[in-house]
Amino acid sequence: AETDATGLRTPIVAVLGHVDHGKTTLLDTVRGSAVQEGEAGAITQHIGATAVPLDTIGEMAGSLVDPDDFDLPGLLFIDTPGHHSFSTLRSRGGALADIAVLVVDVNDGFQPQTLEALDILKRTETPFVVAANKVDTVPGWNPQGHVPIQQSIDAQSDRAEGDLNDRLYGIIGEMSDNGFSSDMYWRVQDFRANIGVVPVSAKTGEGIPDLLTVLMGLSQRYLKEDMSVDVAGPGAGTVLEVKEERGFGTTIDIVLYDGTISADDTVVVGGKNEPIVTEVRALLQPRPLAEIRTEKQFEKVDSVAAATGIKVAAPDLDDAMAGAPVRVVRDRPVEEVIEAVEAELSQIDVETADNGVVVKADTLGSLEAIANALEEAEVPIVRAEVGDVAPRDVAVASTADEPTHEAILAFNVEVLPDAKQQASDQNIRVFSDDVIYQLVEEYEEYVTGIQE
Ligand code: GTP
Ligand code: NA
Ligand code: MG
Repeated sequence: AETDATGLRTPIVAVLGHVDHGKTTLLDTVRGSAVQEGEAGAITQHIGATAVPLDTIGEMAGSLVDPDDFDLPGLLFIDTPGHHSFSTLRSRGGALADIAVLVVDVNDGFQPQTLEALDILKRTETPFVVAANKVDTVPGWNPQGHVPIQQSIDAQSDRAEGDLNDRLYGIIGEMSDNGFSSDMYWRVQDFRANIGVVPVSAKTGEGIPDLLTVLMGLSQRYLKEDMSVDVAGPGAGTVLEVKEERGFGTTIDIVLYDGTISADDTVVVGGKNEPIVTEVRALLQPRPLAEIRTEKQFEKVDSVAAATGIKVAAPDLDDAMAGAPVRVVRDRPVEEVIEAVEAELSQIDVETADNGVVVKADTLGSLEAIANALEEAEVPIVRAEVGDVAPRDVAVASTADEPTHEAILAFNVEVLPDAKQQASDQNIRVFSDDVIYQLVEEYEEYVTGIQE
């Protein structure tokens, strides 16, 4: 429970950006620095999420922050292994994240997933900062460790400083090309009107104090009203992942963004066919500072409050969907809660037609995003579902009315071996990609090829 006596909710910070630009390393550094400073006990790492309490942020930000200026409980960071997971992070039809960090490699600049992340940030009106990462790779850079960026820049040669500035202005230029006004964060007065660019090295820790300070300031100034919620009320969350867990069967990893969830609650979860009503069997938290991907030992907890990440074990979760809503029923009529979940699911609307292509995606959010892209490209969809490509998808594609519709577009999912075999037997084309516009382009090239 990352809440304090004032009852303010922990803001959710999504970390996003192009593959390998350093999102996970950035979070590792935030965690690791705390360990070095003997703060292991003060940090709670949840599933796909790292809750960093205010005290820890205060210590990491050092002289840049006076903890007395802040009364939020801390920040809940969510690592996203690619833009598609960010589209999963939705709540009530909007963005789940309160604020975001867009990580951009200073050498690599803007890349496809940077642009897709920017699109989502624009669409959801999520306030964000740019972490201009890997400053330590500037030729001749003299690493200074975990210090404020200005202190590090003062220690660099004119040449290295000039090189860094060139790269930073490159990023500011690319922001402008994409319709965002931005500047070095220390020159920004109003972070809503102007996006702050914070030079950092996730590897050496340079600039990390600045980044935490800016994030804390952004949340404090602009989000405080949103954070004044009843964290004792029935919980609301979003499914991040549906996973088998030994001894527990199918479990869901969720981000709880509102209220509390307890080990004896009844919950309603968005399912593939209909909402699932089930009883929580266990709430499972990874050990503090454990890496979730390798974590085997979870601690059973009785109750947690927003915002937090938690694994929920309960019967009948096989049909739960990543990106779907989770609601605690508590002392409300269950029908009311089922209706709320259905209403939220119906907002994620993917139009299907009598004829068209089959679309499979890893989450509801990505399914929605790809459906939008296909609509823009005027490609009809006959079937759109969350999940791996299975033989029944091939069966649907094989009844297509015309060759251009004998296709399955698979976004960030597996093609099951049986399906692969059947697709090849029946001449069904399966397109797989983890960048939406590339997937659509591949399909369009194929259509052009047929039509020529
Ligand atoms: P995905 O989750 O795959 O999208 O990647 P990511 O954005 O999480 O990147 P990750 O943290 O895995 O880093 C990718 C590579 O860049 C790793 O080899 C890191 O060690 C390296 N890296 C990340 N940050 C820095 C940095 O500040 N400086 C240097 N020199 N290397 C970095
Ligand atoms: Na990576
Ligand atoms: Mg990563």
